[in-house]
Amino acid sequence: MYSKIVATSVLLSGLAAAAPQGWNHHGGNQGEHQKGWQGQGYGQSAANGQSAANGVSASAGNGASASAGNGASASAGNGASASASATVTSPEAPVRTVSGTRALVSAPSVAIDQDGNVPGYTNADASFADDSVTPLTVIPTVFGPDSTIPAIETDAVSTGLFAAGEQRSSWVTGYTSHGPFSGTATTTGAVMNTPYIYPSGTIPTGPANPTATYYNTDGELQHNEPIPYTPYGGLGTNGSLPRYMVESDFDYESITLGLYQEWIELDAFNNAVALFSEEEFLRYGLTPEDVSLIQFMGQQEQGHATLLSNMLGETAPPQCTYNHPFTNPREFVDYQQILTRWGESGVWGFINHLDSREVGQLLAQSIATEARQEMIFRQMAGLHPMPVWFEAGIPQSWAWTFMAPYISSCPENTTRLAWQNFPALHVANQANINRFSPNDTALWERVDNRTSSPAVIPDQDESCVNLNKTGYGCGPAITHNRSEPLSFAGKQVLLEWDTPGKPVGPNDSYVTAKGGVAGEPSYVAWAAQLNLTYTPLTITGPNTGYTYQPNASVYEYGAPIVNGTMFIALTDTDMYLTPFNLSMLNPHIVALGVYQAG
Ligand SMILES: *[C@@H]1O[C@H](CO)[C@@H](O)[C@H](O)[C@H]1NC(C)=O
Ligand SMILES: *[C@@H]1O[C@H](CO)[C@@H](O)[C@H](O)[C@H]1NC(C)=O
Ligand SMILES: *[C@@H]1O[C@H](CO)[C@@H](O)[C@H](O)[C@H]1NC(C)=O
Ligand SMILES: *[C@@H]1O[C@H](CO)[C@@H](O)[C@H](O)[C@H]1NC(C)=O
Ligand SMILES: *[C@@H]1O[C@H](CO)[C@@H](O)[C@H](O)[C@H]1NC(C)=O
Ligand SMILES: *[C@@H]1O[C@H](CO)[C@@H](O)[C@H](O)[C@H]1NC(C)=O
Ligand SMILES: *[C@@H]1O[C@H](CO)[C@@H](O)[C@H](O)[C@H]1NC(C)=O
Ligand SMILES: *[C@@H]1O[C@H](CO)[C@@H](O)[C@H](O)[C@H]1NC(C)=O
Ligand SMILES: *[C@@H]1O[C@H](CO)[C@@H](O)[C@H](O)[C@H]1NC(C)=O
Ligand SMILES: *[C@@H]1O[C@H](CO)[C@@H](O)[C@H](O)[C@H]1NC(C)=O
Ligand SMILES: *[C@@H]1O[C@H](CO)[C@@H](O)[C@H](O)[C@H]1NC(C)=O
Repeated sequence: MYSKIVATSVLLSGLAAAAPQGWNHHGGNQGEHQKGWQGQGYGQSAANGQSAANGVSASAGNGASASAGNGASASAGNGASASASATVTSPEAPVRTVSGTRALVSAPSVAIDQDGNVPGYTNADASFADDSVTPLTVIPTVFGPDSTIPAIETDAVSTGLFAAGEQRSSWVTGYTSHGPFSGTATTTGAVMNTPYIYPSGTIPTGPANPTATYYNTDGELQHNEPIPYTPYGGLGTNGSLPRYMVESDFDYESITLGLYQEWIELDAFNNAVALFSEEEFLRYGLTPEDVSLIQFMGQQEQGHATLLSNMLGETAPPQCTYNHPFTNPREFVDYQQILTRWGESGVWGFINHLDSREVGQLLAQSIATEARQEMIFRQMAGLHPMPVWFEAGIPQSWAWTFMAPYISSCPENTTRLAWQNFPALHVANQANINRFSPNDTALWERVDNRTSSPAVIPDQDESCVNLNKTGYGCGPAITHNRSEPLSFAGKQVLLEWDTPGKPVGPNDSYVTAKGGVAGEPSYVAWAAQLNLTYTPLTITGPNTGYTYQPNASVYEYGAPIVNGTMFIALTDTDMYLTPFNLSMLNPHIVALGVYQAG
């Protein structure tokens, strides 16, 4: 029998010993109140006095964004030329060799005021560069003993400020059963209260924040700096004590959602490792080392779940019971590349709206890890690791809509969420990542009709999973260059959508609903990278229609907006929205789905 369980325990205890410092222990007295998810004394959270901080936050935030806007376009310009050059390079094109350096064919066009890095290097020469390849003559076959280097026995600090924080779930102690829920909900609907500030159901567009005025025209400091090397401004830079706790209902509901996400990942990663044999993983090109990486990712989730629990307090929800869609390792990695995509994008969507900058800080440090998981699952699924220039952010209700169908039940008294569950938008001809000819994808090649469920594996003579041919193979790899893309601008996209009112989520206790003011659907909104773009919807029958994949790039001559695993919504509007006000789309959404573009 496969000895993976033993390996898990060893790794787990190794990780527990190396667990990161509990940042919340550093705040002296205050730290004591924030000691952990089991601790008491969270009553004094959400201080309304924080509104002063909000004012400052808006000013610095917007100032930063104006200036970042400029920076972004300059740097994107460089990126543009790099990527554009890469895509026009082909084996047929003449490749010039200049002084030992290979020069690629230049891009047809580059962003304004940019020359592009490849043309700029045509005279490149490097005295150290040598065109010849050193032949491999020796491969090591004996691995030790090593040299003995100076070392001492060191004990881990176990008490005080520098001791490792307690893990909420160092072992899988939660519910491990899987399958659909078959009971009756005792509560239904999202957490809500009254009154609404805007009874119309939409938040009106306001003017720019009055403090959003900073603009630097001379490159000099505009204010006296508080101490040397420390420019004036920023938030939390004046010596005030950090407090790593949610500071509003918005923060609380966002981090609680994030914790639901960490738990489903923890369970899915552990579940796959427990379910499939080494041989089964190998059949899909995943080696025992890859399996260890998945195990390690599960352990990362223990840390993330602990961190988020600490920032919430004693009402932090526990792990639930899940109903995953996969039946083999390939379906697992496909499902995970989708699940971690909305896990990551869900956080990018709210992180900069949080009231608590401290929470945002720690959350960013966990979501950076999650982003790597997403990329690794894409690689394990044979997809291009990152066929985009930017990762999209989406509103919380979108992440919750995608996640809820995979949670079958949660323990009694589990903290409920305030976010919306939109009706599902299905892509009938969603590109099948397991085909070397994605054009040949038939209708409904998914293991089930939940929007994030993986593609089915076609017959062996149509599958790219075990195909070893550049441009066609899609087994696990650092990257693949698909000669036949999964999708392309102008592709007809066949859509079907659910009617609202469907029970969904833990214990079937949430109910899908369209946006509060949403009328008949007229548009398909495509959310990817930095953009929300629309195409017209043609309705062909009840809850059925089609559109065509848009042809738009983030920056001209650059990467198309639509690529990777991304998001689509049916809406009654084509209102203009940007990453920081994307959630204004919610009241107009009729249905929401996932699109496998690349
Ligand atoms: C730091 O700035 C915040 C506003 O951002 C203010 O409320 C607080 O009093 C300041 N703290 C100190 C120590 O100056
Ligand atoms: C969203 O923000 C953009 C600015 O980035 C603005 O032009 C647009 O009008 C805003 N949309 C709404 C509906 O407020
Ligand atoms: C439910 O949760 C609340 C808040 O954490 C707690 O006060 C209460 O004791 C819990 N009830 C049960 C039955 O666990
Ligand atoms: C959900 O269902 C499970 C299994 O029937 C049950 O143990 C649990 O108490 C239910 N949870 C809620 C919140 O009602
Ligand atoms: C896939 O379909 C598109 C649109 O009809 C077509 O342009 C393209 O050539 C097809 N791909 C292949 C590899 O045949
Ligand atoms: C998904 O839904 C479509 C149409 O509603 C149906 O034809 C198809 O069989 C369903 N797929 C699965 C796996 O249930
Ligand atoms: C894939 O094909 C190449 C060349 O045809 C060969 O060198 C390589 O060993 C093959 N790899 C596998 C995993 O079969
Ligand atoms: C990569 O794919 C493109 C088409 O998408 C093709 O033109 C190019 O030659 C491929 N490059 C390699 C190294 O296979
Ligand atoms: C997505 O990006 C990959 C890699 O750059 C490219 O080959 C593919 O054609 C792109 N897909 C779309 C839909 O643009
Ligand atoms: C996308 O738009 C550009 C510019 O209008 C055009 O050259 C290109 O052919 C379009 N691509 C598709 C697939 O329609
Ligand atoms: C995509 O978003 C970027 C950043 O906001 C913007 O500069 C660009 O114009 C947008 N592209 C399109 C096609 O809307």
